[in-house]
Amino acid sequence: MSHHRGSSFQSNDLFPREIDIEVCLKTLKIYQKLEGDVNCVVWDASLVLAKYLETMCQHRADFLSGLKVLELGSGLGVVGLTAATLGAQVTLSDLPETLPLLRLNINENKTKISSMGGYAIAESLIWGDNTSEILKEEFDMVVLADCVYYEEALEPLIETLKSLTNTFNKKPIIYLTQELRDSEIQKQLWESFHEKISEIFYIEQVPEEQQHANYRSSDIILLRLNKK
Ligand SMILES: C[S@@+](CC[C@H](N)C(=O)[O-])C[C@H]1O[C@@H](n2cnc3c(N)ncnc32)[C@H](O)[C@@H]1O
Repeated sequence: MSHHRGSSFQSNDLFPREIDIEVCLKTLKIYQKLEGDVNCVVWDASLVLAKYLETMCQHRADFLSGLKVLELGSGLGVVGLTAATLGAQVTLSDLPETLPLLRLNINENKTKISSMGGYAIAESLIWGDNTSEILKEEFDMVVLADCVYYEEALEPLIETLKSLTNTFNKKPIIYLTQELRDSEIQKQLWESFHEKISEIFYIEQVPEEQQHANYRSSDIILLRLNKK
């Protein structure tokens, strides 16, 4: 791979990771960064969510076909790219500085995605920014993995989830995964998030036995949220 124009990484900063989507016999190639901040590697919570979407498609082949899906805090894009390969029209989103690598990953996988009838683009969406054009669109589903991680971003993230579901028409279903970490700060953050979203959403926890047999874990929680 050559140097990617306009971005802040060189080809030797990156290493690929392959992720099989068994249900449609495709393999995603995701570039990760050798060094960097939280958005440089694939987090386990994103694999659990991506594989859950795949499992749902195994039960019902059209589970994602043609659906408009938004991913928040996409990072390297595993969840959104999986949804697109399973036939969804996906907008992946994250902070502006993460977009070059996210777009590289979309580009790397675009032939597989289009061969399955899916579509993927990446846009900036900073949580709590109520002026974002994305919030004017209607989605069938919102997905997010491992985004309850930053104390200062907790309220803005909830604000964005609220805006996305505050429509008169379609109210998207939300699937989220979160790795429950041991530190006191992370435990309190998760408790606080859970308490706040329970005022706005009906929350169902997806039992481990309904998840992918090899990609589930007792310390990664998978929730389905519906606006009250
Ligand atoms: C722990 S990473 C998880 C990434 C990816 N979902 C995964 O599971 O591999 C959290 C992601 O949230 C993004 N993020 C953090 N604060 C944000 C904010 N205020 N607005 C939008 N995205 C944010 C980060 O850039 C990062 O990609």
